[in-house]
This record gives sequence, structure tokens and C-alpha cells, in this order.
Amino acid sequence: MNVESVSLADFRSYPEARFTFTPGLTAVLGSNGRGKTNLLEAVGFMAGIGSLRGVPDEALVRSGTDAAVVRGEIAADDGRQFLVEIEIARTGRNRVLLNRQRVSRLRELAGALTVTVFSPDDLQLVKGSPAHRRRWLDEALVACHPARESVRADLDRILRQRNTALRQARGRISPDIAVTLDVWDAKLAAAGDQLRCLRRELLSGLVPRLAAAYAVVAGAATEISADYASSWGPEPLAEALAAARSDDVRRGVTTVGPHRDDVSFEIDGLAARTHASQGEQRSLALALRLAADGEVRARRSVKPVLLLDDVFSELDPGRAGALALALPDGQKILTSATGVPPGCSADQVLLLDGPARSPERP
Ligand SMILES: Nc1ncnc2c1ncn2[C@@H]1O[C@H](COP(=O)(O)OP(=O)(O)O)[C@@H](O)[C@H]1O
Ligand SMILES: [Mg+2]
Repeated sequence: MNVESVSLADFRSYPEARFTFTPGLTAVLGSNGRGKTNLLEAVGFMAGIGSLRGVPDEALVRSGTDAAVVRGEIAADDGRQFLVEIEIARTGRNRVLLNRQRVSRLRELAGALTVTVFSPDDLQLVKGSPAHRRRWLDEALVACHPARESVRADLDRILRQRNTALRQARGRISPDIAVTLDVWDAKLAAAGDQLRCLRRELLSGLVPRLAAAYAVVAGAATEISADYASSWGPEPLAEALAAARSDDVRRGVTTVGPHRDDVSFEIDGLAARTHASQGEQRSLALALRLAADGEVRARRSVKPVLLLDDVFSELDPGRAGALALALPDGQKILTSATGVPPGCSADQVLLLDGPARSPERP
């Protein structure tokens, strides 16, 4: 799939801008603060993944304005054309249109545009909290099966409602609270068992890709293992929730479920988070992105658009060259403050110049 054009109005630092892209590799160049990441963030938003930087939507609306608009044209691999239009309101709900039809959730855009994002922050996938690894897995799940976006959304909604009920209990299980919790437990158990099962199945498909990608990026064949570390045992989630109920009521939060799960990675038998060198952690982070991208290509026979935000400057020349060679074919948009990275031949160079912030600044 190809992003053909992106038009922005009051998005981040852009009062108004339009960009067109070739199907090959585009290098977006400009010094720091010129809006390179902002542009990739807009493309990511069109793919339904929210902010690349994981910030609330209101940060995307240009300061001093009430709403941002992102409009993009996408050519799918099967010849279909998509027009994505999103109005991001500073307060209230976003309006999302796909081919001029209203869609209720941003994530549904994954069916029109799928992206694989590489960012220097990806190191957090290895070093950071479990939430980063869950997000990686869940994004890959939706990218592989856009129709499954509702599994995760349903779970989040049920969890919020169960937690509200737990807080209302104020530490005491009254008969009323017990009945309410029975309802939410049944819903959470169904959604939670399903999500854990989907994540595990996906992860087992990703492991061989992970090892292959790691070998390419690191330049050495190494044993990579990934384990799904669940917050509850082999029993159905319903049983674990029942066992945790008094604890949950006391603490006012749900202590077991997919929202407390993690993935642990080992490089040559040692935990990557605590034992790997910075270089090994960077290689693993790149491999995680490449593996998920490979899985999407295999399962859906589509080519995600690769978005590479200032990735090469963080890598030593060996890893940078290996990554350039390992990038799969299809459209790629990369940003750099230091010119086209070695090993990459750009079909198109977009130079961002002019003032970094709003031009009408006095
Ligand atoms: N909501 C916003 N309104 C106005 N300016 C913004 C907003 N969000 C970010 N910016 C500005 O965008 C610039 C950063 O752009 P960015 O794309 O991160 O730069 P880079 O080219 O270094 O990747 C900063 O100057 C920042 O102040
Ligand atoms: Mg940047």
C-alpha cells in the first residue's frame, strides 16, 4: 500500500501543508524541530494507531486552535483507493471518515492503511515497562487482523467499568456489589481469555521471525526466545478473577487479566531487559518491528508502509547498514536531520525548511 498524499491543517506545528509521496523511499530531511516527526505522526494517525509518541490527541492540535484536520489518499495493494479524513478536536470526539463514510473508531482505519513504525523510543520495547510490550503485541494483532481491533477495545471498556464498580465498593463486598462484579467478571473473562489466546498464538508465530531479523541486524546468529508472561495461571480467567476478588475489592483495581501481562525476551538465554548490552537491546528492538512487519505481510499479503523516524542516527554504522539492507520492499518514509542515511537510496527527498513553528508568529 502507498500513501499518495497527506494534507494537514492545524496539525502540530503545521498551520497548513500538503505532501505527496512516491511509492519508493522518501527521505524527509530538516534540522531539529522542523516538523519531521510531526509529519510521520500524521501518517501514523491515518493508520489508526493514534499518536506515535503515545500522547493524548489534544497535543496534536496546533496550539491556539480548536481542531486539527488530517486528510490522506492511500492506494491499496489490490488497486483500491482510500480517502481518510480525520478531524481531531481539542475537546470532544474525533470525526473519522473513510471514503466519506463515518467510522466509529480510529482503529478501523487499519484496514485501509497499515504502518510499521521504527523510532528511537523503540528501545523501550526492551527496557521499558510491560505496557510497551503489550502495545507492540496488540498493534501487531490488529495489523495482522484489522477485524480484531474490537477485542482490545472491548477489553479496555469492560476493565474500566469493572474498576469503577470496584472503587464504588469502597473495600467491602456488599450483595449488590457482588452481583455487579459477577456481570463484569463474566464479560472480562470471555474477552480476556480470548485476547491472551490471540496474543500467545501471534507471539509463537513471531519468534522465528524475531530470531531471523535479529541475526540480520546484529550480524550474528543468536538464540532469541520470547515468553508470554501471564498475570494468571493456566486456569480460565473466570477462576483467577474469583480468586482475586477480595484482593481486587480491597485495592480498588483489577489485579489479574491481559492488562497485567508481559512478554519476556531472552538473548542467548539471558533476560534482554536486564542483561543485554545497549547494542543488543537496540538490535532486538529493531527485530521486534521487523518481525511484526513480516507477520503482517505473510498473513494479509499487504505491504505495510514503513515509517522510520530518525532511526539510523542512533545506530552504529554496522547496524545501520544491516538495517538498510533488511528493510522489506514497499513504500518507506524516513526522517533524518543529517542527510540521507548510508545504504539508503532515496527516490524522493522532501526538504522541510522555513520557520519551525507557526509562520504567522510576530
Ligand atoms: N500542538 C502543537 N502546536 C504547535 N506546535 C507544536 C505542537 N506540537 C509540537 N509542536 C512543535 O513542533 C516542533 C517539533 O516538531 P518535530 O516534528 O518533533 O521536529 P523534528 O523535525 O525534530 O522531528 C516543535 O517546535 C514543537 O514546539
Ligand atoms: Mg523528530
